[in-house]
Amino acid sequence: MLSPNLVESDQASIAQEAKQARASVQPPLAQNIRRSLRQQAAEFLSREDAVLVAHYYVDSDLQELAEETGGCVADSLEMARFGFTHSASTVVVAGVRFMGETAKILSPEKRVLLIEPQAECSLDLGCPADAFSKFCDQHPDRTVVVYANTSAQVKARADWVVTSSIARDLVADLSAKGEKMIWAPDRYLGDYVKRQTGADLLLWDGSCIVHEEFKGEVLSNLKKQHPQAKVLVHPESPASVIDLADVVGSTTQLIAAAQRLESSFFIVATEEGILHKMRQSAPDKTFLAAPTAGEGATCISCARCPWMKMNDLQRLISALQVGSGEVSIDEEVRARAAVPIHRMVEYGRQRA
Ligand code: 13P
Ligand code: SF4
Repeated sequence: MLSPNLVESDQASIAQEAKQARASVQPPLAQNIRRSLRQQAAEFLSREDAVLVAHYYVDSDLQELAEETGGCVADSLEMARFGFTHSASTVVVAGVRFMGETAKILSPEKRVLLIEPQAECSLDLGCPADAFSKFCDQHPDRTVVVYANTSAQVKARADWVVTSSIARDLVADLSAKGEKMIWAPDRYLGDYVKRQTGADLLLWDGSCIVHEEFKGEVLSNLKKQHPQAKVLVHPESPASVIDLADVVGSTTQLIAAAQRLESSFFIVATEEGILHKMRQSAPDKTFLAAPTAGEGATCISCARCPWMKMNDLQRLISALQVGSGEVSIDEEVRARAAVPIHRMVEYGRQRA
Protein backbone atom coordinates (compact mmCIF):
# COMPACT_ATOMS: atom_id res chain seq x y z
CA MET A 1 0.00 0.00 0.00
CA LEU A 2 1.37 3.41 -0.91
CA SER A 3 1.01 6.46 1.26
CA PRO A 4 -0.63 8.95 -1.11
CA ASN A 5 -0.10 12.72 -1.03
CA LEU A 6 2.48 12.69 1.70
CA VAL A 7 5.35 14.28 -0.15
CA GLU A 8 5.07 18.00 0.43
CA SER A 9 7.93 19.18 -1.76
CA ASP A 10 6.37 18.40 -5.11
CA GLN A 11 8.06 16.73 -8.06
CA ALA A 12 8.35 19.99 -9.95
CA SER A 13 10.53 21.57 -7.29
CA ILE A 14 12.77 18.49 -7.14
CA ALA A 15 13.10 18.62 -10.92
CA GLN A 16 13.96 22.31 -10.65
CA GLU A 17 16.69 21.60 -8.07
CA ALA A 18 18.07 18.85 -10.30
CA LYS A 19 18.12 21.25 -13.25
CA GLN A 20 20.04 23.85 -11.25
CA ALA A 21 22.52 21.22 -10.09
CA ARG A 22 23.04 20.03 -13.65
CA ALA A 23 23.65 23.60 -14.81
CA SER A 24 26.40 24.01 -12.21
CA VAL A 25 28.33 20.89 -13.24
CA GLN A 26 31.71 21.96 -14.68
CA PRO A 27 32.58 20.87 -18.23
CA PRO A 28 35.43 18.30 -18.50
CA LEU A 29 38.97 19.73 -18.24
CA ALA A 30 42.02 18.90 -20.33
CA GLN A 31 44.05 15.96 -19.08
CA ASN A 32 47.14 17.98 -18.07
CA ILE A 33 45.00 20.35 -15.99
CA ARG A 34 43.28 17.43 -14.30
CA ARG A 35 46.63 15.83 -13.52
CA SER A 36 47.90 18.99 -11.87
CA LEU A 37 44.64 19.46 -9.90
CA ARG A 38 44.87 15.88 -8.68
CA GLN A 39 48.40 16.51 -7.45
CA GLN A 40 47.31 19.68 -5.62
CA ALA A 41 44.32 17.92 -4.10
CA ALA A 42 46.52 15.08 -2.83
CA GLU A 43 48.83 17.64 -1.18
CA PHE A 44 45.90 19.38 0.51
CA LEU A 45 44.49 16.09 1.78
CA SER A 46 47.82 15.20 3.36
CA ARG A 47 48.37 18.69 4.82
CA GLU A 48 44.90 18.72 6.40
CA ASP A 49 45.13 15.15 7.78
CA ALA A 50 42.09 14.40 5.63
CA VAL A 51 40.79 11.22 4.03
CA LEU A 52 38.68 11.22 0.88
CA VAL A 53 35.61 8.97 0.91
CA ALA A 54 34.01 8.76 -2.52
CA HIS A 55 30.93 7.13 -3.99
CA TYR A 56 31.11 5.14 -7.25
CA TYR A 57 28.92 7.73 -8.97
CA VAL A 58 31.39 10.63 -8.73
CA ASP A 59 33.81 11.31 -11.55
CA SER A 60 36.76 9.04 -12.25
CA ASP A 61 39.38 11.58 -11.09
CA LEU A 62 37.87 11.74 -7.62
CA GLN A 63 37.52 7.96 -7.48
CA GLU A 64 41.16 7.45 -8.43
CA LEU A 65 42.37 10.21 -6.11
CA ALA A 66 40.52 8.61 -3.19
CA GLU A 67 42.20 5.28 -3.86
CA GLU A 68 45.68 6.76 -4.45
CA THR A 69 45.58 8.72 -1.20
CA GLY A 70 44.42 5.92 1.11
CA GLY A 71 40.73 6.81 1.06
CA CYS A 72 38.00 4.67 -0.44
CA VAL A 73 35.52 4.38 -3.28
CA ALA A 74 32.49 2.52 -2.09
CA ASP A 75 28.74 2.11 -1.78
CA SER A 76 26.91 4.12 0.83
CA LEU A 77 27.19 1.46 3.57
CA GLU A 78 30.94 1.09 3.18
CA MET A 79 31.40 4.88 2.95
CA ALA A 80 29.73 5.19 6.36
CA ARG A 81 31.87 2.42 7.84
CA PHE A 82 35.13 3.65 6.34
CA GLY A 83 34.83 7.25 7.56
CA PHE A 84 33.91 6.00 11.01
CA THR A 85 36.88 3.66 11.40
CA HIS A 86 39.58 5.77 9.71
CA SER A 87 41.99 7.67 11.94
CA ALA A 88 42.11 10.93 9.92
CA SER A 89 40.80 13.99 11.76
CA THR A 90 38.98 15.26 8.64
CA VAL A 91 36.71 13.17 6.42
CA VAL A 92 36.00 14.67 3.00
CA VAL A 93 32.93 13.23 1.33
CA ALA A 94 32.67 13.08 -2.45
CA GLY A 95 29.00 12.24 -2.75
CA VAL A 96 25.76 13.85 -1.68
CA ARG A 97 24.57 15.56 1.48
CA PHE A 98 23.10 12.56 3.26
CA MET A 99 26.45 10.78 2.95
CA GLY A 100 28.23 13.70 4.65
CA GLU A 101 25.58 13.75 7.36
CA THR A 102 25.94 10.02 7.99
CA ALA A 103 29.71 10.43 8.34
CA LYS A 104 29.23 13.26 10.84
CA ILE A 105 26.58 11.36 12.80
CA LEU A 106 28.98 8.46 13.25
CA SER A 107 32.05 10.60 13.90
CA PRO A 108 30.96 13.78 15.72
CA GLU A 109 34.51 14.48 16.90
CA LYS A 110 35.82 14.63 13.32
CA ARG A 111 35.58 17.50 10.88
CA VAL A 112 33.43 16.31 7.97
CA LEU A 113 33.55 18.31 4.75
CA LEU A 114 31.27 17.90 1.78
CA ILE A 115 32.98 18.80 -1.49
CA GLU A 116 29.65 20.26 -2.56
CA PRO A 117 27.13 21.03 0.21
CA GLN A 118 24.43 21.75 -2.39
CA ALA A 119 24.62 18.15 -3.63
CA GLU A 120 21.19 16.79 -2.79
CA CYS A 121 19.36 13.56 -3.52
CA SER A 122 15.80 13.40 -4.83
CA LEU A 123 14.93 10.73 -2.26
CA ASP A 124 16.08 12.93 0.60
CA LEU A 125 14.30 16.00 -0.87
CA GLY A 126 11.10 13.98 -1.33
CA CYS A 127 10.90 12.98 2.34
CA PRO A 128 10.59 16.10 4.51
CA ALA A 129 11.09 15.32 8.20
CA ASP A 130 7.87 16.94 9.50
CA ALA A 131 5.57 15.16 7.05
CA PHE A 132 7.40 11.91 7.62
CA SER A 133 7.16 12.21 11.36
CA LYS A 134 3.39 12.80 11.13
CA PHE A 135 3.10 9.73 8.92
CA CYS A 136 4.95 7.64 11.52
CA ASP A 137 2.70 9.02 14.27
CA GLN A 138 -0.32 7.71 12.33
CA HIS A 139 1.11 4.17 12.39
CA PRO A 140 2.54 3.65 15.86
CA ASP A 141 2.36 -0.13 15.53
CA ARG A 142 4.90 -0.19 12.70
CA THR A 143 8.69 -0.43 12.89
CA VAL A 144 10.21 2.49 10.98
CA VAL A 145 12.83 1.47 8.42
CA VAL A 146 14.42 4.26 6.39
CA TYR A 147 16.87 4.18 3.55
CA ALA A 148 20.24 5.87 4.08
CA ASN A 149 19.23 8.44 1.41
CA THR A 150 17.42 10.62 3.96
CA SER A 151 18.16 13.60 6.18
CA ALA A 152 19.55 13.33 9.72
CA GLN A 153 16.10 14.37 11.05
CA VAL A 154 14.35 11.54 9.21
CA LYS A 155 16.95 9.06 10.45
CA ALA A 156 16.40 10.37 13.97
CA ARG A 157 12.75 9.23 13.66
CA ALA A 158 13.71 5.71 12.52
CA ASP A 159 14.20 2.39 14.26
CA TRP A 160 16.46 1.15 11.48
CA VAL A 161 18.52 2.73 8.70
CA VAL A 162 19.43 0.51 5.75
CA THR A 163 21.25 0.78 2.45
CA SER A 164 20.41 -1.20 -0.66
CA SER A 165 23.06 -3.78 0.25
CA ILE A 166 21.17 -4.99 3.34
CA ALA A 167 17.58 -3.78 2.82
CA ARG A 168 16.11 -7.07 1.67
CA ASP A 169 17.80 -9.18 4.36
CA LEU A 170 16.95 -6.85 7.20
CA VAL A 171 13.29 -6.53 6.20
CA ALA A 172 13.08 -10.32 5.86
CA ASP A 173 14.51 -10.72 9.37
CA LEU A 174 12.13 -8.16 10.89
CA SER A 175 9.19 -9.68 9.06
CA ALA A 176 10.10 -13.15 10.33
CA LYS A 177 9.79 -11.71 13.85
CA GLY A 178 6.25 -10.61 13.01
CA GLU A 179 7.03 -6.89 12.62
CA LYS A 180 5.00 -4.68 10.27
CA MET A 181 6.99 -1.79 8.86
CA ILE A 182 6.96 1.68 7.40
CA TRP A 183 9.43 1.92 4.53
CA ALA A 184 10.76 5.28 3.28
CA PRO A 185 11.45 6.96 1.01
CA ASP A 186 12.10 4.95 -2.18
CA ARG A 187 8.90 3.32 -3.41
CA TYR A 188 10.72 1.25 -6.03
CA LEU A 189 13.22 -0.25 -3.61
CA GLY A 190 10.38 -0.69 -1.11
CA ASP A 191 8.29 -2.48 -3.71
CA TYR A 192 11.24 -4.72 -4.63
CA VAL A 193 11.93 -5.60 -0.98
CA LYS A 194 8.24 -6.25 -0.41
CA ARG A 195 7.99 -8.56 -3.40
CA GLN A 196 11.13 -10.41 -2.36
CA THR A 197 10.22 -10.90 1.28
CA GLY A 198 6.41 -10.80 1.42
CA ALA A 199 6.78 -8.35 4.34
CA ASP A 200 4.00 -5.99 5.39
CA LEU A 201 5.51 -2.65 4.29
CA LEU A 202 3.74 0.67 4.13
CA LEU A 203 5.60 2.60 1.43
CA TRP A 204 6.47 6.28 1.30
CA ASP A 205 6.07 7.70 -2.19
CA GLY A 206 9.62 8.85 -3.08
CA SER A 207 11.87 8.02 -6.00
CA CYS A 208 15.34 8.51 -7.43
CA ILE A 209 15.17 10.74 -10.49
CA VAL A 210 18.07 8.85 -12.04
CA HIS A 211 16.93 5.25 -11.66
CA GLU A 212 13.27 5.83 -12.39
CA GLU A 213 14.25 6.83 -15.92
CA PHE A 214 15.27 3.29 -16.83
CA LYS A 215 12.44 1.75 -18.84
CA GLY A 216 11.62 -1.94 -19.06
CA GLU A 217 10.44 -1.88 -22.65
CA VAL A 218 13.55 -0.16 -24.05
CA LEU A 219 15.78 -2.42 -21.97
CA SER A 220 13.96 -5.48 -23.23
CA ASN A 221 14.59 -4.38 -26.83
CA LEU A 222 18.27 -3.86 -26.07
CA LYS A 223 18.46 -7.30 -24.49
CA LYS A 224 17.09 -8.80 -27.71
CA GLN A 225 19.91 -7.13 -29.63
CA HIS A 226 22.46 -8.57 -27.18
CA PRO A 227 21.11 -11.95 -26.10
CA GLN A 228 24.46 -12.89 -24.51
CA ALA A 229 24.35 -9.89 -22.15
CA LYS A 230 23.81 -10.14 -18.41
CA VAL A 231 21.71 -7.32 -16.95
CA LEU A 232 22.80 -5.65 -13.69
CA VAL A 233 20.18 -3.46 -11.99
CA HIS A 234 20.17 -1.22 -8.92
CA PRO A 235 16.94 -1.76 -6.94
CA GLU A 236 16.00 1.94 -7.04
CA SER A 237 14.80 1.14 -10.58
CA PRO A 238 11.18 0.42 -11.54
CA ALA A 239 9.83 -3.15 -11.26
CA SER A 240 9.67 -3.53 -15.06
CA VAL A 241 13.47 -3.03 -15.15
CA ILE A 242 14.23 -5.13 -12.07
CA ASP A 243 12.23 -7.98 -13.60
CA LEU A 244 14.71 -8.12 -16.51
CA ALA A 245 17.76 -8.28 -14.24
CA ASP A 246 20.20 -11.15 -13.85
CA VAL A 247 21.51 -9.48 -10.70
CA VAL A 248 19.82 -6.84 -8.50
CA GLY A 249 22.01 -5.20 -5.90
CA SER A 250 23.81 -2.25 -4.37
CA THR A 251 26.59 -0.58 -6.33
CA THR A 252 29.25 -2.77 -4.68
CA GLN A 253 27.19 -5.91 -5.28
CA LEU A 254 26.80 -5.01 -8.98
CA ILE A 255 30.55 -4.46 -9.38
CA ALA A 256 31.24 -7.80 -7.70
CA ALA A 257 28.72 -9.49 -10.04
CA ALA A 258 30.42 -7.98 -13.09
CA GLN A 259 33.71 -9.54 -11.97
CA ARG A 260 32.20 -12.86 -10.89
CA LEU A 261 29.81 -13.75 -13.71
CA GLU A 262 31.16 -15.70 -16.68
CA SER A 263 29.62 -13.37 -19.27
CA SER A 264 31.83 -10.86 -21.06
CA PHE A 265 28.98 -8.44 -21.90
CA PHE A 266 26.84 -6.51 -19.43
CA ILE A 267 24.00 -4.00 -19.57
CA VAL A 268 24.08 -1.81 -16.47
CA ALA A 269 21.03 -0.03 -15.06
CA THR A 270 22.42 2.39 -12.52
CA GLU A 271 24.21 5.76 -12.51
CA GLU A 272 26.87 5.79 -15.23
CA GLY A 273 29.75 6.70 -12.85
CA ILE A 274 29.86 3.04 -11.81
CA LEU A 275 31.09 2.04 -15.27
CA HIS A 276 34.55 3.42 -14.41
CA LYS A 277 35.04 0.92 -11.58
CA MET A 278 33.47 -1.91 -13.58
CA ARG A 279 35.83 -1.33 -16.51
CA GLN A 280 38.79 -1.01 -14.14
CA SER A 281 38.02 -4.21 -12.27
CA ALA A 282 37.00 -6.29 -15.31
CA PRO A 283 39.00 -4.76 -18.20
CA ASP A 284 38.31 -7.61 -20.62
CA LYS A 285 34.55 -7.25 -20.38
CA THR A 286 32.18 -4.89 -22.17
CA PHE A 287 29.74 -2.68 -20.26
CA LEU A 288 26.83 -0.89 -21.84
CA ALA A 289 24.72 1.68 -20.00
CA ALA A 290 21.04 0.72 -19.92
CA PRO A 291 18.84 3.09 -21.93
CA THR A 292 16.80 5.84 -20.27
CA ALA A 293 13.79 7.58 -21.72
CA GLY A 294 16.08 10.06 -23.46
CA GLU A 295 16.27 13.84 -23.22
CA GLY A 296 12.63 14.29 -24.21
CA ALA A 297 9.60 13.41 -22.12
CA THR A 298 10.46 13.16 -18.44
CA CYS A 299 14.19 12.50 -18.44
CA ILE A 300 15.97 15.04 -16.28
CA SER A 301 18.92 12.86 -15.39
CA CYS A 302 19.61 10.35 -18.14
CA ALA A 303 21.60 8.05 -15.85
CA ARG A 304 23.77 10.90 -14.59
CA CYS A 305 23.01 12.03 -11.07
CA PRO A 306 23.23 15.82 -11.34
CA TRP A 307 24.15 16.14 -7.65
CA MET A 308 26.89 13.50 -7.71
CA LYS A 309 28.33 15.23 -10.76
CA MET A 310 28.68 18.53 -8.87
CA ASN A 311 31.67 16.98 -7.09
CA ASP A 312 34.93 17.85 -8.84
CA LEU A 313 38.63 18.40 -8.16
CA GLN A 314 38.44 22.19 -8.08
CA ARG A 315 35.65 22.17 -5.52
CA LEU A 316 37.56 19.60 -3.47
CA ILE A 317 40.62 21.85 -3.40
CA SER A 318 38.64 24.91 -2.41
CA ALA A 319 36.78 22.97 0.32
CA LEU A 320 40.13 21.96 1.83
CA GLN A 321 41.66 25.39 1.29
CA VAL A 322 38.97 27.31 3.16
CA GLY A 323 37.31 24.54 5.16
CA SER A 324 33.98 25.10 3.41
CA GLY A 325 31.13 22.60 3.27
CA GLU A 326 31.59 21.55 6.90
CA VAL A 327 28.69 19.38 8.06
CA SER A 328 27.11 20.33 11.35
CA ILE A 329 24.09 18.64 12.92
CA ASP A 330 22.11 19.55 16.01
CA GLU A 331 23.47 17.31 18.79
CA GLU A 332 20.10 15.99 19.89
CA VAL A 333 19.18 15.00 16.32
CA ARG A 334 22.63 13.53 15.76
CA ALA A 335 22.52 11.39 18.89
CA ARG A 336 19.07 10.02 17.97
CA ALA A 337 20.06 9.37 14.34
CA ALA A 338 23.24 7.61 15.48
CA VAL A 339 21.23 4.79 17.09
CA PRO A 340 19.66 3.29 13.92
CA ILE A 341 22.82 4.01 11.89
CA HIS A 342 24.98 2.07 14.36
CA ARG A 343 22.41 -0.73 14.13
CA MET A 344 22.82 -0.72 10.36
CA VAL A 345 26.63 -0.80 10.54
CA GLU A 346 26.55 -3.64 13.06
CA TYR A 347 23.99 -5.59 11.01
CA GLY A 348 26.15 -5.14 7.88
CA ARG A 349 29.27 -6.20 9.81
CA GLN A 350 27.61 -9.40 11.01
CA ARG A 351 26.58 -10.32 7.47
CA ALA A 352 29.94 -9.51 5.85
P1 13P B 1 24.43 2.32 -2.94
O1 13P B 1 24.19 2.20 -1.48
O2 13P B 1 24.11 1.08 -3.69
O3 13P B 1 25.82 2.80 -3.19
O4 13P B 1 23.42 3.41 -3.52
C1 13P B 1 23.47 4.75 -3.16
C2 13P B 1 22.70 5.59 -4.10
O5 13P B 1 22.54 6.76 -3.93
C3 13P B 1 22.14 4.94 -5.27
O6 13P B 1 21.50 5.84 -6.07
FE1 SF4 C 1 19.95 10.19 -4.88
FE2 SF4 C 1 19.44 8.94 -7.15
FE3 SF4 C 1 21.50 10.61 -7.02
FE4 SF4 C 1 21.57 8.23 -5.73
S1 SF4 C 1 21.50 8.57 -7.94
S2 SF4 C 1 22.19 10.22 -4.92
S3 SF4 C 1 19.44 8.04 -5.12
S4 SF4 C 1 19.33 11.16 -6.82
